[in-house]
Order: sequence, then structure tokens, then C-alpha cells
Amino acid sequence: MISEALAGLLNQQIVHEFRASQVYLGMSVYCTGLNLDGWAGFFERQSEEEREHALKIVRFLSEASAPVSLEAVPEATTRYGSLLEAVSKSLEYERKVSDSFRIMAKVAQEHHDHTGYGFLQWFLKEQIEEENTFARLEAVLEGGLNPFQAETLLPRE
Ligand SMILES: [Fe+2]
Ligand SMILES: [Fe+2]
Repeated sequence: MISEALAGLLNQQIVHEFRASQVYLGMSVYCTGLNLDGWAGFFERQSEEEREHALKIVRFLSEASAPVSLEAVPEATTRYGSLLEAVSKSLEYERKVSDSFRIMAKVAQEHHDHTGYGFLQWFLKEQIEEENTFARLEAVLEGGLNPFQAETLLPRE
């Protein structure tokens, strides 16, 4: 069974994942408003992925008979000053999420929670990808490529 300490942190993470899903959906709406359909699709896919992350945690906890709390998801904005601002905020957020998973991995180790530790590995790997994606997009936009041109560089699927 998984440790209580890790179960508590994973429960907090559920709402963070749903919140990220909501934030990315807001970014998608913002991009649609700018006629940046490629970016809108990209953020919509990100939003779906974050929801999948939340569900992965919910399933893991409920299958392990651990308590699951589904808190209210905070409101997300659909307004940004620029696409670069949205991308930079995404990167900042993904870095915070990576930190949280590293802390969870440490807690799992401290509690000799091998099942929980194993479960976290997928997320740690996923976070590397997400950070790389947003870091690359931030660099592209900071490099001066306009958002319409940058659409061709967005990851498909
Ligand atoms: Fe996530
Ligand atoms: Fe993410």
C-alpha cells in the first residue's frame, strides 16, 4: 500500500493537474482570439494531457484504496498580454510541477514506498518532455519568430 504522506501530496497534485488543464484551455481560447489556430490546438492538446495526468493519479489512488479528494478547480484567465507571456507562464508552471514531483519522489523514498516511487517515475520523465517543449517554444518566440511562423514548429499530436 502507498504511504499516507505520499497519498496526501498526490491528492494535492490532482487539483494542480486539473488547474493546469483549465489554464491551458484558457490559453487555447486566447490563441483562437488571435486567429492562431495552430497554437490554439496545441494548448487544447496540452489541456487534455493535464486532465489525463489528473485521472492517472485519481485511478492510482483509488485502486490503492487511498482516499481521493476532488477539490474545486480555480478559474483560469483567457487574457494574456502576448503569446510569449502565455508560453513563459507555462514553462514556469511546468518547472514548479517538476519540483513537486521531485519532492514526492523524495517522500516516497523516505517512507520506503516502492509502489509510489515507481508510479512517480512516469511523471518525472513526462515533466522533462514538457519543460523541454515550452523552453524550446519560449526560445523560438524570444528569438523573434512571429507566432504565425512559429506554428510550423509546434509539436504535432
Ligand atoms: Fe501534468
Ligand atoms: Fe504539464
